[in-house]
Amino acid sequence: QTIYLSDYKVPAYLVDHVDLRFELFEHGARVHSILTVRRNPQSDDVGAPLVLDGDRLVLESLALNGTPLDGDQYEDRGDQLVVADVPEQFQLSVVTWIEPQNNTRLEGLYKSSGMFCTQCEAEGFRCITFFPDRPDVMARFRTRIEADRSAYPVLLSNGNDIDRGDLPDGRHFVTWEDPFPKPCYLFALVAGDLVEKRDSFRTRSGRDIDLRMYVEPRNADKCAHALDSLKRAMRWDEEVYGREYDLDIFMIVAVDDFNMGAMENKGLNIFNSSCVLASQDTATDAAYQRIEAIVAHEYFHNWSGNRVTCRDWFQLSLKEGFTVFRDSQFSADMGSATVKRIEDVTLLRTAQFAEDAGPMAHPVRPSSYIEISNFYTLTIYEKGAEVVRMLHNLLGPELFRKGSDLYFERHDGQAVTTDDFVRAMEDASGRDLSQFRLWYEQAGTPVLTVRDEFDADRGVYRLTVEQTLPDTPGQTDKKPHHIPFALGLLDRRGQPLPLRLADDDTEAPTERMLELTERAHTFEFHGLAECPVPSLLRNFSAPVRLNYPWTREQLLFLMSHDPDGFNRWDAGQRLAVDVIQSLVGAPRDTQVEPRLVTAYRHLICDASLDQALVAKMLQLPSEAYLIELADEADVPAIHQARERVLKHLAISLRDELVACYRRNAQDSAYDLSPLAIARRSLRNTALAWLLAINDEEGRALAVRQFRDADNMTDRIGALRALVNSDYEDDRNQALASFYQRYQDDPQVVEQWFSVQAASDRAGQLPQIRALLTHPAFDWKNPNKVRAVVGAFAGQNLAAFHQVDGSGYDFLAEQVCRLDDSNPQIAARLVTPLTRWRKFAPAYRERMRAALERIRDKPSLSRDVYEVVHKSLAG
Ligand code: ARG
Ligand code: ZN
Repeated sequence: QTIYLSDYKVPAYLVDHVDLRFELFEHGARVHSILTVRRNPQSDDVGAPLVLDGDRLVLESLALNGTPLDGDQYEDRGDQLVVADVPEQFQLSVVTWIEPQNNTRLEGLYKSSGMFCTQCEAEGFRCITFFPDRPDVMARFRTRIEADRSAYPVLLSNGNDIDRGDLPDGRHFVTWEDPFPKPCYLFALVAGDLVEKRDSFRTRSGRDIDLRMYVEPRNADKCAHALDSLKRAMRWDEEVYGREYDLDIFMIVAVDDFNMGAMENKGLNIFNSSCVLASQDTATDAAYQRIEAIVAHEYFHNWSGNRVTCRDWFQLSLKEGFTVFRDSQFSADMGSATVKRIEDVTLLRTAQFAEDAGPMAHPVRPSSYIEISNFYTLTIYEKGAEVVRMLHNLLGPELFRKGSDLYFERHDGQAVTTDDFVRAMEDASGRDLSQFRLWYEQAGTPVLTVRDEFDADRGVYRLTVEQTLPDTPGQTDKKPHHIPFALGLLDRRGQPLPLRLADDDTEAPTERMLELTERAHTFEFHGLAECPVPSLLRNFSAPVRLNYPWTREQLLFLMSHDPDGFNRWDAGQRLAVDVIQSLVGAPRDTQVEPRLVTAYRHLICDASLDQALVAKMLQLPSEAYLIELADEADVPAIHQARERVLKHLAISLRDELVACYRRNAQDSAYDLSPLAIARRSLRNTALAWLLAINDEEGRALAVRQFRDADNMTDRIGALRALVNSDYEDDRNQALASFYQRYQDDPQVVEQWFSVQAASDRAGQLPQIRALLTHPAFDWKNPNKVRAVVGAFAGQNLAAFHQVDGSGYDFLAEQVCRLDDSNPQIAARLVTPLTRWRKFAPAYRERMRAALERIRDKPSLSRDVYEVVHKSLAG
């Protein structure tokens, strides 16, 4: 059942107004809906029946302009309600009965730890009532919620609360009205016994916005960071994009059971608890940063997504790519820009490149799908953000801002396409972006191959850049992309050289954004006295694979001299990758490159370096990234080679690591400045390395840090180091005492699960199975499933890739088990298996067998069906 972009037709009917009344009970909910409908003047489908979407709804009554319809005047097809004869304009009254308490799919209206909440994107509203569930139908909503007053004192929906009062039988109601027309995927409702944290924000035009955060009472002291982040995001969007908030109230709600990270419902953002609640004692630095980014992301959607929304779900990246780009700019401004770029590129190169190279590869604007939930992907989000970033690179900040202003002004209140976005950029800048549009249409990661030569007699350095684009499912013989390619050249002392594209170009800049549009380009740089070292694709100016025959000398040179911080880090990664790869399957006595040790010593010991960057540079490339780079990945061999390098570094630099630990010991009150975060990262890296070689002093430091830490980053850093060591008693003691201390905090218990599931010491298959029967494990909670099953298959790669296939069988079993209760989560868990073609033959065949086992499960959900069938095809 494939849906095609090319089949898009404007809706035959529009809904101007929706009047909702929810009667919430413990045994179910009755939803009364009155739709004000008119024929769409743009549609040539005159006389078309009215077709509404529905999913698992019990229809209780249906009336047209107040007159009840007989059974022969409509057809309830289960997933559609069809009314054949309707006038040009009418009101349709629909009453449905649903059972939120039994909704384990977490789509539509469901219950999470005693409260009612909703998730309607992408197609959850049809699980609440019959409606044209598509984003190009935008309506004004009024919502009255009725529930028991004592169990559900807080009743929330979008917009402003305009009425409230008591009802018989201890019940009460609140009515909400949202003045902005919106697609139904932005509808939200919350009812629960929640505490409210209030704050306020004055917009630059002087309006005071009420900020309200709602959480379960036990989380009352975990709201400050989200509210602070929200205010920073509101200010930033005014300053950088000229976007001001539009309603009088902005609300955030935390719920424990949530399929994704968060949702930008108009005026009522709903978050996965793990993406919004934080306290010093329970949240790591990474969690603090993730929360700041996600709060900002959802807030930014108010313009990029809500005021201007998507015409159809093929355009998903219109809002997601742009909003991820916006939140990454925001995070860069709030902390270390280089570190943020490194983190984003690491995710892109590790996971999005893998997606682009696998059976689920799709363009940023897909042309078909079976289940849209499967398309909330790294390609739509992360690659989509890179595409917007490239526009920013090509246009420069001023013209980009002009383009975004034009986009918001031109399309405010509309449901539009990625093409409309590019056109606004085009019109505002005067640039021709027709070739650039291919980034939205062609899947796959371009490969740039760079060669160079130096003509000493003429003083000319010649750089040749070729681009190729690999085939992906359904796409071959692709056209070249329009690629911004930032570069600089360095002399032998590391000084930047002027980039003269002609002989007489005296005022030349030391960095250029070259533009690639052909399959091959040659650039000549003049006036050079010596052969330079190129610094290519600075700040990762395009989402491509870059091949250049770097020597280890060049990489070492760039690691310490490149003025581009990102490229310094990248040179270190490339060197480490090269060293590890040369040890994969090599004889045991093969030497580890001694210059790697020297380079890392320099990083650890030179306190004058940017400590945030150093902390990142010390992280060896992950196993997942090394697998992505391999042609036929032999995971145990990659794991061993990486471990060898890590242990060799740790042994060679043992004293320096102890000194680094002590130098970076906590010496002042906890804070979240980039330097403080970097120092925590450095000391925890030092601990991890020392424990990897069973260092006794490291062990003592870890045990003490675990006991005395005043924050979660240090406590869990020490726990992780102990868990990954050979000190079995310390490991077990630390795990037990950690659980003891935090057992009542689900967000921390999730971290406790994932530290074990991701560890090759504590997370072998029998131990993973034991975690699944732990009293704190809960199949209905996606975070717990991700923390155990997801972390095992996604991070504990040596344990997952057993040559007997037991890891794969285990995953297949869990996917089948989840498929009936929560297909969205089940489909996501399949991801590691979809990459089966990447692995050495013995593994590959067993992965495929596991996929076939899932395929053969009776009554497979559409979500899992799509992923499994596409993975096995071809
Ligand atoms: N729009 C949300 C965000 O990116 C994601 C919601 C996706 N939900 C889903 N069920 N696929 O912020
Ligand atoms: Zn989003």
